Amino acid sequence: MDTSTEIDWEDSSNVLNRAALPPKQTITGNEWENPAITGINKLPPKSWRHYDRNYFASLNGDWKFCWSPFPDAAPAGFYAPEFDDRRWSTIPVPGHWELNGYGIPIYTNIQYPFPPTPPTVPHGDNPTGCYRHEFTAPSGLEGRQVFLSFQGVDCCFHLWINGQFAGFSKVSRCPAEFDITEFVQAGTNLIAVRELRWSDATYTEDQDMWWLSGIFRDVFLYTLPRAHIRDFEIHTVFDDGYCDAILAIEVSLSCPGLKHILRATLTNGAHVVASAETDETTFRFHIANPIKWTAETPHLYRLEISFSTPDGEADQVEWQVGFRQIDLRNGQLLVNGQPVLLLGVNRHEFDCETGRVITEESMREDLRLMKENNINAVRTSHYPNNSRWYELCDEHGLYVIDEADLETHGLMDALSSAPAWQAAYLDRLSRMVERDKNHACIIIWSLGNESGFGANIIAMSKWLKRRDPTRPINYFHAGTDASVDIIGMHYPAIEKVREFAKTEPSGRPILLEEYAHSMGNSTGNMREYMELFETTPRLLGGFIWDWIDQALMRREPDGTTWYAYGGDFGDLPNDGKFCMNGLLFPNRTPQPKLLDLKQAFQPFALDGQEAASGKIGVRNRFSFRNLNEFLMTWTLRCGNTLVASGELSNVNLMAGEGMVMSVPLEIPEHPQEVCLLEVTIHEEHRVLAFEQFVVAHPKPRQEVVGVTPQVKTSAVTLQAGEFTACFDPAGGDLISLQHNGNEMLAAPPRLQFWRAPTLNDRPFVEHWLAAGLNNLTIRPKRVVCSGATFRVEQEILNQNSCLLFSAALEWTMSLDGVLRLDYCVEPIGQLPPLPRIGICLPMLLQYEWFDWFGRGPFETYRDRKRGARIGCHHGTVASEFVPYPVPQENGNKTDVYWAQLHDRRACGLRVESWPPMETSVHFFTAADLTVAEHLRELKAKPFIAWNLDWGQAGVGNGSHGPGTLIPYQLLPETVHHRLELRPLSPHNSSRI
Ligand code: GAL
Ligand code: MG
Repeated sequence: MDTSTEIDWEDSSNVLNRAALPPKQTITGNEWENPAITGINKLPPKSWRHYDRNYFASLNGDWKFCWSPFPDAAPAGFYAPEFDDRRWSTIPVPGHWELNGYGIPIYTNIQYPFPPTPPTVPHGDNPTGCYRHEFTAPSGLEGRQVFLSFQGVDCCFHLWINGQFAGFSKVSRCPAEFDITEFVQAGTNLIAVRELRWSDATYTEDQDMWWLSGIFRDVFLYTLPRAHIRDFEIHTVFDDGYCDAILAIEVSLSCPGLKHILRATLTNGAHVVASAETDETTFRFHIANPIKWTAETPHLYRLEISFSTPDGEADQVEWQVGFRQIDLRNGQLLVNGQPVLLLGVNRHEFDCETGRVITEESMREDLRLMKENNINAVRTSHYPNNSRWYELCDEHGLYVIDEADLETHGLMDALSSAPAWQAAYLDRLSRMVERDKNHACIIIWSLGNESGFGANIIAMSKWLKRRDPTRPINYFHAGTDASVDIIGMHYPAIEKVREFAKTEPSGRPILLEEYAHSMGNSTGNMREYMELFETTPRLLGGFIWDWIDQALMRREPDGTTWYAYGGDFGDLPNDGKFCMNGLLFPNRTPQPKLLDLKQAFQPFALDGQEAASGKIGVRNRFSFRNLNEFLMTWTLRCGNTLVASGELSNVNLMAGEGMVMSVPLEIPEHPQEVCLLEVTIHEEHRVLAFEQFVVAHPKPRQEVVGVTPQVKTSAVTLQAGEFTACFDPAGGDLISLQHNGNEMLAAPPRLQFWRAPTLNDRPFVEHWLAAGLNNLTIRPKRVVCSGATFRVEQEILNQNSCLLFSAALEWTMSLDGVLRLDYCVEPIGQLPPLPRIGICLPMLLQYEWFDWFGRGPFETYRDRKRGARIGCHHGTVASEFVPYPVPQENGNKTDVYWAQLHDRRACGLRVESWPPMETSVHFFTAADLTVAEHLRELKAKPFIAWNLDWGQAGVGNGSHGPGTLIPYQLLPETVHHRLELRPLSPHNSSRI
C-alpha cells in the first residue's frame, strides 16, 4: 500500500523512486473506505510517452460486463478464469455504465449524491461493475516487463490477471499502471476488474458535473525490456535576456546503476540541433537562440532519448519540446520574459452522448474552436485531462492550467485539514504533476478546485514548490495564503477586482479562475472585462465558466432526441440546469456568445473615436507577434452599398504597442442610410480582428402628409393605394393589415414588456414578478382621430390593477403608402429595470422569410453585440431560433434599422425603425418560452410573433456572479419609438 507513512513527500526524489517499493498483493477489505490507501501495487506515476507499436496493444473494445447494486451482490469469484460469463452482456471500454444502460447518471454541483459520512459510503447502494476481458499475450515477451495501463476509471477498482489479484486503484482522472509481468502467460490471458461507483475517493471528487462511472479512458498494454527508461524530465531555462537556453534532461532508469548508454538528440525539422551521449542519466544542452514556444507561436523541437545496455536492451522516448520559461515578476506572469494576458475558458471533458469518454476528434474540434475564437488558454477544470489533450495544446498553442483531481466542495475544509486524508491529497497532486511535467503548454499548476483550506492543501503546495519550482501554483480556496503564487477569484464584480488589485498587499498576480458564468443566453459585457484586464497589470486574465453545456442526449424509442439535465433521469438529489453553462451547445456547435467573444478577445483592439475623420487607433494585444504579419483592410459602406475600400499592408506594430492609422475616407454628405467604416485584420482567410464604426447617420426623415382616416362604426381605416390598415374604433387595436387584398396580421399588435427570463436574469426576475410584469392588462383609455392621425391612449396594469405604464400610439398613413406608428411609453411609479419595451406584431405563418439590416447574422443583445456586423442579413423564422436546451429569451437582433418578413413570392411587410430597434421572430410567444423547461415542450403557435422592440435588457452573467451592468439595463424611462410599415411586393423588395 502506498501510505503517507511510507513516503517522504517532502523529498521529491522519492517519488521517482517509488518503483522500488515492494509490491504487496493484499486486499484489506476496506481499501475503498480508507483514504490512507491510495492504491495497491500501483506503479509510481511518470511522464506520458508513446510506446513502440510492436510492443503496444490497445485493449479498448467490448468487455464482458455484469452490474450489481452493491459490492456484496457482485458474483463471487468472477475473476477466476473458469468462471462462466456466457450470460453476461458486454459494455464498451472506454464507456460509462450509466450511458450504456446500467444505472442512472446523477448531476450534482456541491452536494454529494448521498449524505456524506467520510470515509464510508453507502453499503447497500454502491453500484459495482465486474468486467472480464481476454487478450492474447504479445509475442516476444521473453525478458520483457508487461505493463497494464488504465488511463481513467471512475472511481476505484480491483484488478485480477488470470485469477490472481494484481492491484487496486483510486483517483478517477489519472492513469493507473500495473506491472503484470508475473501474471501473464503465453496465449490467452484474462483481465478481471471490479469497479465501485462510490469509495472514500468520492469525497475528494465532488466536482460540479455528472457522476458517471466506468472505465472511461483507454486501456492498453505495453512491454519494455527490464532495463528501460522509467521516466524523464525536461526543463528549458533561458539566460537573463531570454535568448539562449539550457535544455536540461534528467532520465530515470528502471534499473539504476546498470551499465548503459543514453543518447539524446534534439532536432528542428530535419536539422539536428544538438546531440550527445552519456553513461550517466542527465544532459545539459546549451542551445543558442532557440525558437521559443508560446501559445502564439507554438514551435516545437523533437527530442529523442535512446537507451541501450551492453546486453542489447534498448528503449527510446520521443518528446516534442517547447522552449519556454515562466517567471512571475512585478505581479505579472511572464512567458519568455513577456507578460501575457490569459483569455481562457474552463473546459470539462464532455460529449453529450458519451459523457467523459471523448475522442481525439472532439479534442481537436475543441482546440480548433478555441483558437478560431481567440481563446488562448484553458483550465482543465477540474481534473487532469486525457494525455492527448496536452500534446495537442503543445502543438497548436494554448496555455494550460493543469488542475489536480481534487474537490471536496460538499465538505469544504473538513477533509483538507484532516491528517488521515493527506496521503490522498498528495497522491492526487503528484500523479498529475509526474504525468504532465514535460508539457510546454502547462504554465500553472492548480492544486484542485473548491476543497476549502487546511494543512493538506499547505502540504500539497510545499511538495509542489520543491518538486517543480518552474511553474506557479494557483488554488482558489487558499485565498491570499502563501501556499499560492497566484491569487484566484471566482465570479467577482469588476469593481471588486479593481479594488482588490489596488489594496491586496502581497503584490502577487491575480487570476479570475472562473468568471462570466455562461449559462444559457449570457456572457454579456465581455468588453468591460477586457478593459479591466488591460488596465490592471496584476490581473493575469481569466477563464470563462465554461466551455460546453453538459447536457446528456436522450433518445426516445421513436428515434427523437433531447437534452437532459439534472433530474431528467430521476436522479435525486440533483442540481437541475446548472450543468449547462457552455459557450458551446451540447453537440459542440458554437452559441452566439462564443461568436461575440471572438471579437471581444481579438488580438488587435481597434478604436474609432475619431473614425469620422479617418483616424483609427490600433493596439496590438499580442505578446509576441507584429501587426506586419497580417493584412489589414477597410471598407466604407452606406447601408448595404460599398462606397470605398482599401488595404493597409505591412504595418509595423510590435506586440503590446499602439498607433493611430489614417484611412482616406470620403463620407457622402447627405447619406440616405447609415455609413459604416469597417476595419479588418486577417490572417490568411481567417478574420483575426475587426471593428465597425458608424461614421454618418442617415438624414432625419421628413414629416409626411397623411391620408384622412375613414371612420365607420365597424372600423377606422387608413388606406393608401393597395395598402390598408383597419383599427377597432372602440379599443384602438390594429385589426387588419392588407396589401393587394392579402391579410398579413394574425392578431393585433400590442405593446409588450415581458421577455422569457434568461437563466442570467436571475437577479431581476424576482422584481419583475413582484411588479407583475409577466401578466399585464392593456386597457384603452381614449381613442381619437385628429387630422390624419389615429391616436390610442392606453393604460397598462398588473394583476392587482396597479397602473404600471401609460402609453400613446399614433398611427398615420402617408399618401405614398407608409403606415407610421409613433408610440410613447411612460412608466408610472416605482418599477425595477425592465426586461423589454416594444411591440409584438403577430404575422400570418406564410411570412416566414426574414431579412434585417442591423447586427447579425447571429443573436445579439445590448451588452453582447460588437462581434456581430451591422449589415443586411437573411434568415427564416425557424433559422433565427437559438435552441438553448432550456427555452428562454433568444434570437434578438440589435441596432436594426429595418427588418422585413415576407412570403415565398416576396410579398410581406417591412418595418423601419427610428431609433434603430431590437427585433426577433418566433413561432413562440414570450409566455411560451417562459414556461417550457425543455425544448421539446415548446409547441409552435399558428402565427409568427414579430418582436419590434424599442429595447431589451442586456444578458449579463447573473446566473452566478454579476447581473447585467447598469448601462445595459433597461431602466424605466419614458421612451419614444417610431416604426414605419411598408408593404413588400416583388417589385419593391429589391433590398432583400
Ligand atoms: C464554480 C465551480 C464550478 C461550477 C461553477 C458554477 O464555483 O468551481 O465547478 O460549479 O461554480 O457553475
Ligand atoms: Mg464546486
